[in-house]
Amino acid sequence: MADVFMNTYHRLPVTFVRGEGSWLFDINGKKYLDFGSGIAVNCLGHGYPPLVKAITEQAAKLNHVSNYYQSDVSAAFAEKLTASCAASGMRKVFLGNSGAEANEGACKIARKYSLKKYGPGRHTIVTLRGSFHGRTITTLAATGQDKFHQDFGPFTEGFRYVPAGDVEALDKALDKTICGLLLEAIQGESGIFPQERAYIETAAKLCAERDILLMFDEIQCGVGRTGTFLACETYDVKPDIVTLAKGLCGGIPVGAVLAGEKAADTLTVGDHGSTFGGNPLAAAAGLAVLETVTRPAFLKEIAEKGERFQTIIRSWNHPQIKAVRGRGLMIACDIQGDAWSVLEACLAQAGTAGDKPGLLLLSAGAQTLRFLPPYTISGAELERGLEILKTVLNH
Ligand SMILES: Cc1ncc(COP(=O)(O)O)c(C=O)c1O
Repeated sequence: MADVFMNTYHRLPVTFVRGEGSWLFDINGKKYLDFGSGIAVNCLGHGYPPLVKAITEQAAKLNHVSNYYQSDVSAAFAEKLTASCAASGMRKVFLGNSGAEANEGACKIARKYSLKKYGPGRHTIVTLRGSFHGRTITTLAATGQDKFHQDFGPFTEGFRYVPAGDVEALDKALDKTICGLLLEAIQGESGIFPQERAYIETAAKLCAERDILLMFDEIQCGVGRTGTFLACETYDVKPDIVTLAKGLCGGIPVGAVLAGEKAADTLTVGDHGSTFGGNPLAAAAGLAVLETVTRPAFLKEIAEKGERFQTIIRSWNHPQIKAVRGRGLMIACDIQGDAWSVLEACLAQAGTAGDKPGLLLLSAGAQTLRFLPPYTISGAELERGLEILKTVLNH
């Protein structure tokens, strides 16, 4: 592995060269079932034909134009994306390139909305303990986990953390200094923790009463992952802001901040920008993803596959497995042993002939396995992958 990379990732010893559907192939011809989707990015698997067609056709026509001009493809993507989130009240979108960038945009909107309406002193954003919102200085500050708050200070000022699920603490925290509440409907990075319905609906009520922007970070749980286009659709709430990234363009970098009635027009010319944001190549990919992922029958299948996944794991009654939780194809399993060792062992199952596959998983903390398989995974692939996991856990 090239040692010119900065040493920021604990990379597993495998070099991938090709993908096909739910499968990845390494440089030695070994194959692996992909239960991680590049951390929720390759949501339609690898080489999904409509996505490949959209990207290759667009690449041959036009990859990029500056946002100082217009692009019919980018406009079509923005319209389709906004329409896909219309049930949650979204009206306008800003397109960038990553989840962190989307959350930065959300924080800027909340602060400006409040400043223009109420003047200075109301700029703090509340986030939840256990949350993850990105790796920039501001989104690290937004992230409610102390382990991310080392070495890089001073962080952006103006974030306050509350314990997830504690209505009383939230009520107290949402005082006159607060402009926004940023939260994941299902916390991903910290181990797939869905928020309680009552908590989310009370949070929404408190925000509405106090004119605090309710902002859902749907970067990991959005774009169909949980069986609805947005995870927050399952609650009786109307967010003011939604952020998306990861799976939205099926593997091409993207980030999106969507805003509803209150904040759709908060940002004006010169307030925000991004050189690559929403360029025609990403937009063409995004259109192809939305075309598939917004179909009700497709979303229903995601929910069903997720239920089957959980049912199979539970049916093992495996002594190594302490808990299973999640929604749709966003699932976690707490285990007795070390999660990273299980990841390594699942990878090592791959046989040289290519007939015996390995399995790619994610971890979320020391003792939690995280599963984010592609939505297009078949029932047989799902079962095969889980068999590999069971074999590893049995040893
Ligand atoms: C919920 C959530 N928000 C934000 C991010 C940051 O996204 P990115 O890595 O694209 O900046 C992530 C990435 O894992 C995430 O899961």
